[in-house]
Amino acid sequence: MSKFAEVFGVEPDGVWRAPGRVNLIGEHTDYNDGIVLPIALPNQITISASARTDGVIAVASSGQNDVITFELDSLAPGSVKDWAAYPAGAAWVLREAQYGIGGANLLVESDLPSGAGLSSSAALLCASAVALLGLRDLEVDPAEVARLAQRAENQYVGAPVGLMDQMASMCCSAGHALYFDIRAMTTDQIPFDPAADGLALLVVDVKAPHRHVDGEYAARRQSCEQAAAELGVPALRSIAVEDLDEALTRLSDDVVRRRVRHVVTEIRRVEEAVALMRAGQLRDVGPLFTASHVSLRDDFEITVPELDVAVDTALAAGALGARMTGGGFGGCIIALVDSSTATTVLNAIEKAFAANSFTTPASLDATPSTGASRLS
Ligand code: GLA
Repeated sequence: MSKFAEVFGVEPDGVWRAPGRVNLIGEHTDYNDGIVLPIALPNQITISASARTDGVIAVASSGQNDVITFELDSLAPGSVKDWAAYPAGAAWVLREAQYGIGGANLLVESDLPSGAGLSSSAALLCASAVALLGLRDLEVDPAEVARLAQRAENQYVGAPVGLMDQMASMCCSAGHALYFDIRAMTTDQIPFDPAADGLALLVVDVKAPHRHVDGEYAARRQSCEQAAAELGVPALRSIAVEDLDEALTRLSDDVVRRRVRHVVTEIRRVEEAVALMRAGQLRDVGPLFTASHVSLRDDFEITVPELDVAVDTALAAGALGARMTGGGFGGCIIALVDSSTATTVLNAIEKAFAANSFTTPASLDATPSTGASRLS
């Protein structure tokens, strides 16, 4: 008997999936109307689902025996807690947006580590949304599902995140990075195939516990919004690199000045990285990764020793560029390397972690994968 039948007493009507992501460059620019460049990972959340007629949503996860149930009609922000808040938030936002979803049994399975900065929250929201919509044959534009998932995370779960992770989980395509311009709300698929150039993208989970990540994220966002208000612009995207020095003289607080410098220079680095990728000069993107890390470390101040050691070690072992990726305070680094040095770089990071008494890091398959879809 399938796990689904064991838990819910029926077979599923279908199976849906949504992937995690790593962002290549453009960190913390999404809520500043900036530009990001994520790829979807092979790691994903999978949801098997069957429709119910009683207006109840029942969720179970393959790792646990409990079934959590809630009524669609009584959902309100915060009404369901812990991991079930994500499927509940997806159901809540779809109802708020007047989509005709109904009750459902949902079994959640995952090979996407949570707490590793790979966007498992967005993947769970997106997988839940596509399953709930798919059960009723409702077709919704993937970017609209991403916006709804972000709204659920902001308003139902209460996390003030930007739109990158949900867009990556919904809109990435295999073999490509997703160029997503948040101000213009436009996307473009940028071919990304390091192996074709004799290169590899390494993703290393540094296994550092996320320390104070929620509060620090909100604080960074608030600093950026305060700066935009002081500068009289709708968002920091409005400040061009050429006008940065002048803008900085108009800000009173040194910390805020550094936060602004990160965002403004990072947006320029995304533009440069994309231009190089379009010109087939992927190797030359390496130094932009490294410059991005330095900016996140010194100006945005969201790295931790594990991230810095991993990046410094990768570079010393011959990486073309390396940086932290994701929200910060833990999570993963990415490194662009010649394929022939991939093992050397990974071994060097492992050795450096042992020497620093850090938890053993783990590397992940970074094959650019496709956004959320129905599996069966
Ligand atoms: C988290 C957020 C995203 C984005 C990144 C940083 O993943 O969910 O919206 O801000 O941090 O780039």
